Formats: sequence, C-alpha cells, structure tokens
Amino acid sequence: MIARGAPLAAALRRATVADAPALARVQRASVRALARGAYPPSQLAAWTRLGPLYHRWALVAGGEVAFVAERAGHVVGYAAFTLGPPAEVTAVFVRPAVAGRGVGTFLLARVEAEARRRGARRLVVKASLNGEPFYRARGYGGGRRIRVPLPGGGALAAIRLAKALSPPTARPGS
Ligand SMILES: CC(C)(COP(=O)(O)OP(=O)(O)OC[C@H]1O[C@@H](n2cnc3c(N)ncnc32)[C@H](O)[C@@H]1OP(=O)(O)O)[C@@H](O)C(=O)NCCC(=O)NCCS
Repeated sequence: MIARGAPLAAALRRATVADAPALARVQRASVRALARGAYPPSQLAAWTRLGPLYHRWALVAGGEVAFVAERAGHVVGYAAFTLGPPAEVTAVFVRPAVAGRGVGTFLLARVEAEARRRGARRLVVKASLNGEPFYRARGYGGGRRIRVPLPGGGALAAIRLAKALSPPTARPGS
C-alpha cells in the first residue's frame, strides 16, 4: 500500500478518442505498479495488453464516458462509466507517481456526478482486488466475487460492488 500524500491538484476534462493512447499508457503503468501483488504475473500481463485499440473501441462503440485528470498537460489518471444498464464504473486508474493523493477520489466523484446527471440512480463496479478498499471507503457495498474475462483468454478475479447515488441537488429556483 502506498502512503497517502498531500492532495494534488489536477484538472479534469472529458476524454476523447484521441486520448486512447494516453489512457492505455496510464492503465499499463497503474496496473504494473499498483495491482502488483494482487494478481499473478500472467494476469497482470494480460490486463496490461489492453492497448489503445481497446480504449478507442470502449469510447466509440462501448458507450463509455471517460474523464482524464491532467497535470502540466499530461494525463495522470482517468475514470470511465457506461450507463448500461446497469450503470457501471468501468475504470479508475492513476499513474503510480500520483497515487494516494486524491486524484482517484476526484475522478470517481466526477464519474458519479455525471452518471447521476444522466439519470443513473445506482452504480455497480467490478472492483479489482487491490481497488476494493478504495471503492468501499467511498460508499460501495456488497461483495459478490466474480471473474472478468480478459482478451486472449484468462480472467481477473474481482468483487462486484454497488452504490446508490443520491438524487441531483435541486438548483435554486428550479
Ligand atoms: C484505486 C486507485 C484508482 C486509487 O487512486 P488514488 O488516486 O490513489 O486514490 P486516492 O488518493 O483518491 O485515495 C487513495 C485511497 O485508495 C486506497 N488505496 C488502495 N490501493 C492503493 C494504492 N496502491 N496506493 C494508494 N492508495 C491506495 C487508499 O487506502 C486510500 O483510501 P482511503 O482514502 O480510504 O485511505 C489507484 O490505486 C489505482 O489506479 N489502482 C490500480 C488500478 C485499479 O485497480 N483500479 C481499479 C480498477 S476496478
């Protein structure tokens, strides 16, 4: 576990298809460093082989809405969801260099707000074994063990968690 550091300011914006290579780079670095120990090397290798093509597909055909966190023009993290059904958090990944400094929390909050704005009242997530405490500490509960298939064979053990989203706050005068 990486120690929690001082909060780091990052700018969030919607990801576009042009971000696919950056998403793949962040995911690879994140999995290699932050999921190490939670999975055998063969599964980590299969997970990190999801390249830009996968991310392009997810954003175009997979219905994924993604946000990137940037510092000095560099993508340091991203998060994504689909409306499903069921509405699902499909990714939260941060670069190891910024882990434990609030970027993942910031990204997840943005995903939740956008999913809520688009009508979702509940989000599920297939949490990685290393990511489970992160989601539980942010209101996700349940805990059905599942396996998430990987391209090229094999599957990742994961925990299916869910969180009810509070209704959007009414704007003054609305
Ligand atoms: C899970 C993840 C997105 C958290 O991002 P982050 O920016 O480090 O998160 P924050 O700094 O906002 O919060 C850190 C929290 O995550 C927990 N955490 C879990 N694994 C951690 C790790 N390896 N390093 C730092 N914090 C970790 C901390 O305990 C902390 O929880 P707390 O606030 O309740 O104490 C990040 O560790 C990551 O990218 N992991 C690898 C990819 C992954 O498995 N993602 C989930 C896919 S379902």
